[in-house]
Amino acid sequence: MSAKERKKKSAAAAVKHRPKVPAATAVKEEKKIGAKLIPIYIMGKRYEVPEGLTIMKAMEYAGYVLIRGCGCRGGTCGACGTVYRKPGDYKLQVALACQKTVEPDMYVAQIPFFPANRALYDFARLTATPEEVFKLYPELFRCVACNSCTKACPQGIEVMDAISALKQGNIAEAAQLSFDCIQCGLCTSRCFGELAQYHMLQLARRIYGARIVHRAEHLAEMVKAVDEGKYDRCLEELKKAKEDELKKLYQEREVEPMATGEDWKPKDTTYL
Ligand code: FES
Repeated sequence: MSAKERKKKSAAAAVKHRPKVPAATAVKEEKKIGAKLIPIYIMGKRYEVPEGLTIMKAMEYAGYVLIRGCGCRGGTCGACGTVYRKPGDYKLQVALACQKTVEPDMYVAQIPFFPANRALYDFARLTATPEEVFKLYPELFRCVACNSCTKACPQGIEVMDAISALKQGNIAEAAQLSFDCIQCGLCTSRCFGELAQYHMLQLARRIYGARIVHRAEHLAEMVKAVDEGKYDRCLEELKKAKEDELKKLYQEREVEPMATGEDWKPKDTTYL
């Protein structure tokens, strides 16, 4: 049987085994919620959910109460790694449940947590040499460059390239390439070599931020000014302010323009 025929047969089987929902019930529900209902399978069980929902919202609509595998709901925290498969397609796909919208007959299952090796280290004692990273994560060299990690990344990060840079001792490159990582761990879930890429690259970013990247002088100046009490009076006044006053102050604050010179200052310099 050809791949095309297999695909057709599998899709037909999915439809055949779908339990029938009374049409009148579906129409009533669609009217109530103002959206078309589509069938999906959560952990193997069929549900009718409004189209356009994310996987996360569809699961909640179906009655699941998410106490794990659910955080920011905005594609930032990485808590909601999910696997899914479309009918007639052999491929297991991965996504963030709070971002991916459901499709008819999609099979979904959440992977809220799985153990992955995370090295223990006292960051203050690290001197940022590649050898230290190799010692903490010797399995780094188990990478077979299959690129499954990159394909699994919902952030579009070139994970394999970042791991490759780390293997070559280029911590800065590894950190920059993985800058958008949200620690969802989906790369690790698909890795042949049993690497926990997201933990390894997090270490690279920590080293890069603390030891390699150029220190911002203005930040150091600001920290010093705070330490010396330059803003104490301002902070005391803010602490005494009522909630409404704080809201007003926040809404009416003068915001630095998007494009301006380094010497920009607000009109009101009372506290500067
Ligand atoms: S819930 Fe935070 S990324 Fe999805």
